[in-house]
Amino acid sequence: MTSHQIRKAFLDFFEERGHLIVPSAPLVAKNDPTLMFNNSGMAQFKDFFLGNGTPPARRIADTQKCLRVSGKHNDLEEVGFDTYHHTMFEMLGNWSFGDYFKKEALGWSWQLLTEVYKIPKDRIYVSVFEGNEAEGVPFDQEAFDIWKEIIGDESRIILGNKKDNFWEMGDIGPCGPCSEIHVDLRDPEEVSKISGKELVNRDHPQVVEIWNNVFMQYERKADGSLIPLPERHVDTGMGFERLCMAIQGKKSNYDTDLFQNTIRVIEELSGQKYGVNGTLTADNYVDVAMRVIADHLRAVSFAIADGQLPSNAKAGYVIRRILRRALRYGYSYLNFREPFMCRLVPVLAKQFADVFPELQAQVEFVSKVVEEEEKTFLRTLEQGLKRLDAIFQEKNTSKVLSGETVFELSDTFGFPVDLTALIAKEKGFSIDEESYKKALEEQKARSRKDAEKEAADWVELGDTDGVEFLGYELTAAPAQLMKYRISKTKAGQEIHLVLDRTPFYAEMGGQVGDTGTITLNADGKEHRFRVTDTKKENDLFLHIVKDKNAAEVLATLTGPTEVLAEIDTERRTNIEKNHSATHLMLAALREVLGSHIIQRGSYQNDEVTRFDFSHFAKVTDEELRRVEDIVNAKIRENIALDEKRNVPFDDAVALGATATFGEKYGDFVRVITFDPHFSVELCGGTHVNATGEIGMFRFVSEGSVSAGVRRVEAVTGVKALELLRQQSDLINELKEILKSNDVLKAVEQLKADNTVLQKKIETFENATIQAAKIALLSKVENIKGMNLVAQRVNVPNADALKQLAFGLKQNMGKPVVILGAVVADKPNLAILIDENVVKERNLNAGAIIREVAKLMKGGGGGQPHFATAGGSDIKGLDDAIEAAKVAVVG
Ligand code: ALA
Repeated sequence: MTSHQIRKAFLDFFEERGHLIVPSAPLVAKNDPTLMFNNSGMAQFKDFFLGNGTPPARRIADTQKCLRVSGKHNDLEEVGFDTYHHTMFEMLGNWSFGDYFKKEALGWSWQLLTEVYKIPKDRIYVSVFEGNEAEGVPFDQEAFDIWKEIIGDESRIILGNKKDNFWEMGDIGPCGPCSEIHVDLRDPEEVSKISGKELVNRDHPQVVEIWNNVFMQYERKADGSLIPLPERHVDTGMGFERLCMAIQGKKSNYDTDLFQNTIRVIEELSGQKYGVNGTLTADNYVDVAMRVIADHLRAVSFAIADGQLPSNAKAGYVIRRILRRALRYGYSYLNFREPFMCRLVPVLAKQFADVFPELQAQVEFVSKVVEEEEKTFLRTLEQGLKRLDAIFQEKNTSKVLSGETVFELSDTFGFPVDLTALIAKEKGFSIDEESYKKALEEQKARSRKDAEKEAADWVELGDTDGVEFLGYELTAAPAQLMKYRISKTKAGQEIHLVLDRTPFYAEMGGQVGDTGTITLNADGKEHRFRVTDTKKENDLFLHIVKDKNAAEVLATLTGPTEVLAEIDTERRTNIEKNHSATHLMLAALREVLGSHIIQRGSYQNDEVTRFDFSHFAKVTDEELRRVEDIVNAKIRENIALDEKRNVPFDDAVALGATATFGEKYGDFVRVITFDPHFSVELCGGTHVNATGEIGMFRFVSEGSVSAGVRRVEAVTGVKALELLRQQSDLINELKEILKSNDVLKAVEQLKADNTVLQKKIETFENATIQAAKIALLSKVENIKGMNLVAQRVNVPNADALKQLAFGLKQNMGKPVVILGAVVADKPNLAILIDENVVKERNLNAGAIIREVAKLMKGGGGGQPHFATAGGSDIKGLDDAIEAAKVAVVG
C-alpha cells in the first residue's frame, strides 16, 4: 500500500463506523496559552473533553499535523539519530466524545491493523495501565479483559506504568490511562533470538509503538490533583509514518514513500548517497543529515504555510531553530554552501498537494521565506567562522576551547558543537566538553525559570458550557458570573472572569479585546470592576480585571452571580472603523498590487490598523495613493454591512470569500461583505454598520517585516482627521513664522537669501584675514635667524586662524607663527614652524602645543610643523602664546 492508500483506508474505516471526517487543524495552536503547537490530534478538541463546548459530532476522525518540539512532548534532539521520531508527523486519530468507549475502540484498532492493514497478529503487543495508588487510579482491568478476549493470548499484554500508560496533553488538562499498540518489525532470525515482548518500550528502532488509545477520564488541575471528567471519552492517535514503515515492510520511516522523494533530491543536490552503509546507524552523519533535513523541511514548510513565520520570539523562534538545525547538518556533512532547503519546498508541496493543499497554494511564498532565512544563516555562519579563526590566533598556548567559547559560538552564531569540534580538530584544537555541558545546563535552567508561570485553577461558581457572544448586537448586558481564576504573572496579579454571555469581544483575528466594566453586588454592596482586556482561551472568554479588592469580593460568592457587563463603546466604535477599513484595504491592495496578496497578520485597536501581507517589492507612494483612493471612494459610497452567520464553509467560498489557510476547522463560518463584488471575508470580528462611518482612511507608514512580507499602517475616522489637522497646524505655524501665506515661496526665498548672505560672509572674512595678515607682517621680529610672530588676533573662527597662519608663512622666510584668538568665548591657539627650523632646532609644534594648551585649560595636537589647540579659559590665552614663544626661541 502507498502512504496515500494507507491514510485513506484509515479514514474510510472510521467513516464507515459513523465518524465525521474533519480536516487537520493548523500546526500552530491558537488561543491556547498552554500550547505553542498542536502536539497531538486531540489538541483541537480539548474543550470538548473538558465540557466547555459541544463537538460537531460524537464520533470524529482525521489526520492531524502535529509538531513535538517544545513543552511536554519534545522529540527534536532524537530526530535524525533514530529512524522513527519526527518533529512534524501526522497523527491518525479517532475520537468518541461521551459515545463509545474501550470495547469498541480497542476492537476496531485490532480489526483495522490485522484485517485491513494485514499486520501479522504475532507481531503485535499491547499494553495497559498497571495503576497508580498515589494518584488513586486503579489497574485497567477492563482494558486487560477486552484485549484478552480480542487476542486470545494474555502473554501479548504488557502492564505499563504512569510514564508509558497514562497520557496527558500538558501539565494541566484532560488525561487518562491509555493502551498502546506496539509492532515488532525485525527479521525472523532476530525474532527467534529474543522475544519482541522484551523490547517493547526499549527504544528499539524496529519494535515501536504505533497506536495509542487514551481513555479520557480525568482533568489534571494546576495543583497536581486529578478530578473525574463529567463524561468518558476516547482519544486515539496513530503515528502515520511508523504505520507506513510497518505496512510497507521497511526498517525506517525514512525508507517509506513519505520521505524517499525528498531524500532523492537531497542526494542529487549534495552529490552524496543515502543509506550506503544501511540506513540505521547514528554515526553515519551523511545519513543523519539527510534524515534531519527531510524531517525538518516538513515542520518548517507547513508551519510557514499555516501562518508561523520564522522570527526571534516564541513560536517563530522555535521554527527558526528547527530550520537552522537542518541547515547546520547540511553545511557540516553535505557541504552545502548555498541555500538548498528552499529548493526542496516545491518537492514536498507537490507530494502533499491533495492531503494538505495549503503548502502547494503558497509554495512560492514559503520557498522565498526559507531562502531568505538560509541566506541570513549562511552569513551568520561566516561570522562564526571568523570568530573561531580569531580564537585560534589568540590561543597559542592552550589547545583547548573552553566550554564558554563553544557555548557562545552555538548561542550567538548558531554553531553546533559538532561543527565547532570538527573545525577545531582540523586546527589541532579540542573542545572542553565538560564545561560546555555545564554552560548549556546553566542556560537551560535560565530559560526554564523564564518560562515558569504559575498556573492557577478555576473557582467554579456554576457549570459553564461555552459562552454566548452578544457583542455583535449589544454593548451592555446582564449576565451570570460562572467562574474565575486568580493568576499571578510577572507583572502582578490578574483575575480572569468568565460569564455565561458577554458583549465583550475577546482578542481574535487581529481585533483587540474590549475594555469596560463588570458590576456586581456582593456583601450588600455594589462593586464595579474595570476590565482592562478580554482574551480568548480555547472557547472561554476571559475578562481581565486587576482591581486590588476584586479577589476579596469574589471570595464571598458562593454560586453563579448576576453581573452587568458594559463595554467602552467609543473605543469599540473606533476599533470597528479600523477593522472594517482593513477589509476595504485588503480588497483595494488586491486590486492595485495583484491577487497574490495574502494576509500574513493584522492588528486593529482604537488608534490604528496594522496589516501584514505577502508581496515582494516595496509598495510605491503612487500605489499607496491608489489604494487610499479606492478605500476612500468605498467609504463615500456608504456601503451597508452584509453580515451572514453560520454559513457552510463551501457556500462562503462560493460567495467569493478567500479561503484562508490555517483556520481551525468549523463547518459554519461568518461572512462579512462590503459590496459582493469588492470585499467578501471570513471574519469573526465586529464592524461598522455602513462604510460611511469610517469617515476617512489614510496610510501612515509602509515597510518590510521579513522576507516577502510588507507591513502598512493606517488610521481612520477621528484619527485620520487629527493627522490632517496636525499637518495643517504645522503649515499655519510656518506661515506665522515666515510671515507669508505662500509657505513654499517664502522658504525658497529664504534659501536664496541664505546663499547670497553666505557669499557675503566669505568675502568679508577673507578681507578680515587679509587685513590681519598685513598688520601682523609689520610686527615680525627676527630672532636667532627665525622670523617670529606671536600675537593675539581677531578672527571669526578656528579655520580662519589656520588660514591666517599659512597666509603669513607665504610672505615670510623661516617663519615661526604663534597665533591666539577667542572664538565663541573659547581660547584657540595655532603654532606654525618652518620645516627647516623644525629640523635645525629639533622642534615639534604638536608637542609644544600639548604642553602650553594646559595654561588655557585645553588640549590639542598636530604635526611637528603645525598644530592647533582649543581651551576653556580665555584668561590663560596670552600666557599660552608667551610660553609657546619661549619654547621655540629658548
Ligand atoms: N493523544 C494521544 C497521543 O498523542 C492519543 O498519544
